[in-house]
Amino acid sequence: MDKIQKSYKQTKNIYDKTLTRGSIWSKLYIRIFWGGVDDIKIAETLLSYIPDDFSGKLLDVPVGTAVFTHKKYKRMKNAHITCLDYSTDMLEQAKNRLPDIKMLQGDVGNMKFDDESFDIVLSMNGFHVFPDKEKAFSETYRVLKKGGVLLSCFYIKGKSKITDWLANNILAKRGWFTPPFDTEESLKARLEKLYDIKTFVVDRSIVYFYAVKKIRTGLRDCADPKKLDQKSNFWRSVFLWQNTLLSLRKK
Ligand SMILES: C[S@@+](CC[C@H](N)C(=O)[O-])C[C@H]1O[C@@H](n2cnc3c(N)ncnc32)[C@H](O)[C@@H]1O
Repeated sequence: MDKIQKSYKQTKNIYDKTLTRGSIWSKLYIRIFWGGVDDIKIAETLLSYIPDDFSGKLLDVPVGTAVFTHKKYKRMKNAHITCLDYSTDMLEQAKNRLPDIKMLQGDVGNMKFDDESFDIVLSMNGFHVFPDKEKAFSETYRVLKKGGVLLSCFYIKGKSKITDWLANNILAKRGWFTPPFDTEESLKARLEKLYDIKTFVVDRSIVYFYAVKKIRTGLRDCADPKKLDQKSNFWRSVFLWQNTLLSLRKK
């Protein structure tokens, strides 16, 4: 996790320009290594799923510098927005952009929020960075209400040799990305267990999707092994009691 703090401290001043193609170098970088994928358009598409008059609770993790979201959040006057990021440097810039929005420093894999407390979880360009993917998926799932929406975009491997080379040999080594990375198939399989997938688009090496947390799956318990244990202990006692009663009757 310290590697992440360090890496995003180094890039905090060039991050926005790189992703929004604000310089000739970043235009070249996106063209050569990312096949010219348009991060701004992807972010706009995801944000377009949220109405400006949304009045529920939204969690943005990781918020980063809020480069893609600050204009949208300023329009969402009735929403209860919470933003989380591990890097204090990135968060500082988001705070400057959005001084009235709740900004917290923390780890997506260990969030302090109650179960089922958000209507929307927005996670842009985060899952390829999060060091513990399993925890990140289970925590974002845990805090989302049943029927709540996960909106997300991030890098997936297997779509472009040059992008995969960059991700493994440069970005991961410098701490901006963290393997293992999902493929389109592994991500779909992971999501289908927990969500109804409404939109799933692969644009070069970036995937973006809109997924709704299933209302009745029983998988809630699987996401939390402690609860699964409590539940099986309960059924074990019911079974034992039933057997005792039956044997008493026979006597
Ligand atoms: C590529 S930036 C994306 C930021 C923003 N969502 C965007 O699209 O511009 C990735 C961010 O993930 C944050 N991050 C990495 N690991 C994290 C973790 N375990 N918990 C929370 N944030 C994390 C980093 O600090 C960084 O700000």
